[in-house]
Amino acid sequence: MMTSQKATARAFSNIATIKYWGNIDESLRLPANGSISMNLDGVYTETSVEFRDDLAEDRASIDGKPVTGGPLERISRHLDHLRKLAQNQPGNWRAEVKSANNFPAGAGIASSASAFAALSLAAATALGLALTERELSSIARLGSGSASRSVPGGFVEWHVGATHAESFAESFAPPDHWQLTDLVAIVSRAHKATGSTEGHALAGTSPLQNARVAHAPERLARCKRAILDRDFEALAEVVELDSNIMHGIMMTGNPPLLYWQPETIGIMHLVRQLRTAGLAVCYTIDAGPNVHCLCAPNAVEQVKPKLLALPGILEVREAKPGGPAIVIK
Ligand code: PMV
Repeated sequence: MMTSQKATARAFSNIATIKYWGNIDESLRLPANGSISMNLDGVYTETSVEFRDDLAEDRASIDGKPVTGGPLERISRHLDHLRKLAQNQPGNWRAEVKSANNFPAGAGIASSASAFAALSLAAATALGLALTERELSSIARLGSGSASRSVPGGFVEWHVGATHAESFAESFAPPDHWQLTDLVAIVSRAHKATGSTEGHALAGTSPLQNARVAHAPERLARCKRAILDRDFEALAEVVELDSNIMHGIMMTGNPPLLYWQPETIGIMHLVRQLRTAGLAVCYTIDAGPNVHCLCAPNAVEQVKPKLLALPGILEVREAKPGGPAIVIK
């Protein structure tokens, strides 16, 4: 008879207001700079992990499609970190992983963040590991840097850290601190050509990366202050600055990466115009063409139809600050 241990977890994606781009240690994913993000309520991954005594190899599916090759190895390696910590029998078993996103993967909404946060929590629970939130955040980081920030809830800071245990994310304000809304303007659902793991490895080839990293603590402090004070104007300034600097690194590396599409730039212009006209909205863009338009609560209803009226917008998704990763079964 087959014996197994199973758990299911849900983790929200997050949007960075101060970005992570580049590592000082690629294999441990120790970042070149600290970062800040907000979890996105309603934009999530649900993952079940079942350790089974009858499997010869790990198996995984995402949105019902089997995962093979490199992506399966990445999941397996991640499970190995947790299996190593477990001093019990399931720690020797292979696992069946079933993961489902409620949003399109690979297009600038960080699916790897919610995916590795949910995978880490589900696997740790199925193995009976009693990890602190901080330990779980460090482990999630090994799968995908931004996943460290999807473990705690609300507004989150990821500390750089010189070692695996010191590099973790923690919440500095709960989700209800400020009802910021992220209007995610989706202009493409295609999988991005250069994934972020590859992108991080190229960051150092830009002659501008050292300056970006050196200035990061100042941007980080300004962003944290703006969020704690609920000061939208200050937030908008530093969020757009930080996103523009990161894309400057991407565009000036070797080979250069250009994630923007014409529609991306159209949205950036619209957001600037709306802010000049008095609406509390700013943009930030990850490694893809879609644009996250952060709005103060009173601006959402006016900004959304303006975005939808632009040519080439496929959809506008709305997310408020989300909670931490949780076990659901
Ligand atoms: O965690 P990764 O390897 O998917 O990197 C995330 C990189 C950005 O989304 C572009 C920035 C960030 O801090 O989320």
